[in-house]
Amino acid sequence: MQLEGKPVRESHAEIVEVVLPNDANPLGTILGGKVLHLVDIVAAVAAYRHSRSYVVTAAMDHVDFRHPIRVGDLVILKSSVNRVFQTSMEVGVKVFSENILTGERRHTSSAYVTFVALDSEGQPITIPPVIPESEEEKRRYEQAEARRRYRLEQRARPR
Ligand SMILES: CC(C)(COP(=O)(O)OP(=O)(O)OC[C@H]1O[C@@H](n2cnc3c(N)ncnc32)[C@H](O)[C@@H]1OP(=O)(O)O)[C@@H](O)C(=O)NCCC(=O)NCCS
Repeated sequence: MQLEGKPVRESHAEIVEVVLPNDANPLGTILGGKVLHLVDIVAAVAAYRHSRSYVVTAAMDHVDFRHPIRVGDLVILKSSVNRVFQTSMEVGVKVFSENILTGERRHTSSAYVTFVALDSEGQPITIPPVIPESEEEKRRYEQAEARRRYRLEQRARPR
């Protein structure tokens, strides 16, 4: 039985935090690990909203940190489900910094996180399809297929 699809917009999630000294390195800029933690959380919220089930992180793709985010800046993370496969889904996350005095906003990172939906016994379950509506959502949907192929090839490769 085919599950009913849901629009991408129903999965949207956003986190806004002030960068505090405890989250920073000695130069006063946010730790990469702190950003990755927030990426995982905001992505999980999108995955929950779409699947309405338990989810676990199966993979996080390569992440670049393009600009430093300073103590006192806002760190803003936005996520939504790009594509559902069977029991797994790719969530896209964009990270921005915002200067609280000038409002200047910079795109600092993008990330793709794969989640698997599980039942209460920990078994993977089928996820409803996602329906891309905007041109941007359709582009992300199309490109997610190639990213998945690459990801699964990397997983299969002996290390
Ligand atoms: C993720 C997990 C449930 C997958 O289990 P598994 O036995 O490989 O399950 P399956 O082979 O049935 O794969 C289930 C789905 O996950 C996908 N998947 C598994 N590993 C993946 C990976 N590294 N990258 C992308 N997708 C992956 C499969 O392609 C499949 O997707 P599909 O149903 O949409 O086609 C299991 O590896 C796990 O529990 N990992 C630990 C998760 C965790 O604790 N995360 C927190 C950080 S440690």
